[in-house]
Amino acid sequence: MAPADPTARVLVTGASQGIGRAILLALARDGHSVLGVSRTKPDELANAAQSSDSDLFAWKLLDLSKAADVERCASSLESTAIRALVLCAVDYGANGRHEVSATSAQEWQQVIATNCIGHCILVSRLLPKLIANAPGIIVNISSDVAVLPATGRAAYAASKAGLHAMLRAVAAENPVESLRVYQLIPTFQLITHGLRRRRPEGFDFSSYVEPDLVAQIVRQFVSPSGSSKAPGTYLVRRDGRLDEYPEIHKL
Ligand SMILES: NC(=O)c1ccc[n+]([C@@H]2O[C@H](COP(=O)([O-])OP(=O)(O)OC[C@H]3O[C@@H](n4cnc5c(N)ncnc54)[C@H](OP(=O)(O)O)[C@@H]3O)[C@@H](O)[C@H]2O)c1
Repeated sequence: MAPADPTARVLVTGASQGIGRAILLALARDGHSVLGVSRTKPDELANAAQSSDSDLFAWKLLDLSKAADVERCASSLESTAIRALVLCAVDYGANGRHEVSATSAQEWQQVIATNCIGHCILVSRLLPKLIANAPGIIVNISSDVAVLPATGRAAYAASKAGLHAMLRAVAAENPVESLRVYQLIPTFQLITHGLRRRRPEGFDFSSYVEPDLVAQIVRQFVSPSGSSKAPGTYLVRRDGRLDEYPEIHKL
């Protein structure tokens, strides 16, 4: 189904690096009208904006850890049509795995504020726009830590599980004709700026995958011609295959 407004944008959080940046650039190359948000705007994005049709490419400053900033950013988009949200921003927390008892109050606050609360506010405020361009689309780059015990990464896990649960509620509150919510759980690790920073010098990344693999999957989900995949949670395999993740719907 074509979106109500073909110029409506796809908003990508975490657009400055890693998976979000790969998704933003892949969508811009495909001719989608995109809007990236993050705290920094690297040169490559400025160059990409110049080399492609810059009307199709926009970027806004947003610090997701500050609720007031998220509210302001959402208000500033009042006149912008948005048909899809792709959630990629992440604060991984303190470097090195550490037990719950060694997790500082500052880490709990920053990680949960960024990954969970900031995204929850953004989704809540932009939901009417997505539904106005029915079917609106939300793609969340979730994580195995949202559904499995994650030792040594409790703040990250709590933040990802919180957003994952919030989006399940959003999906259950809205018919699929209005809103399609996809949550993707990579079953492998990807070479991104965030992960590089957390690995020791000389670390062997040969088993890690390039972020473009996830970008190619997200392209299918946000295509106006519609994905043949039913909304829901999917495990992403390293060959690009998607396996449905059977969420519990009833006890
Ligand atoms: N990499 C993996 O192996 C892997 C595996 C499974 C799931 N994931 C998920 O994939 C997503 C992307 O991960 P990644 O590894 O690509 O991350 P990354 O390389 O660390 O990039 C994180 C992005 O989030 C933005 N960000 C961080 N703090 C922010 C804040 N306070 N406000 C706004 N933006 C903020 C950063 O931009 P600024 O610093 O410019 O703001 C950056 O663009 C995450 O949701 C992660 O949980 C990753």
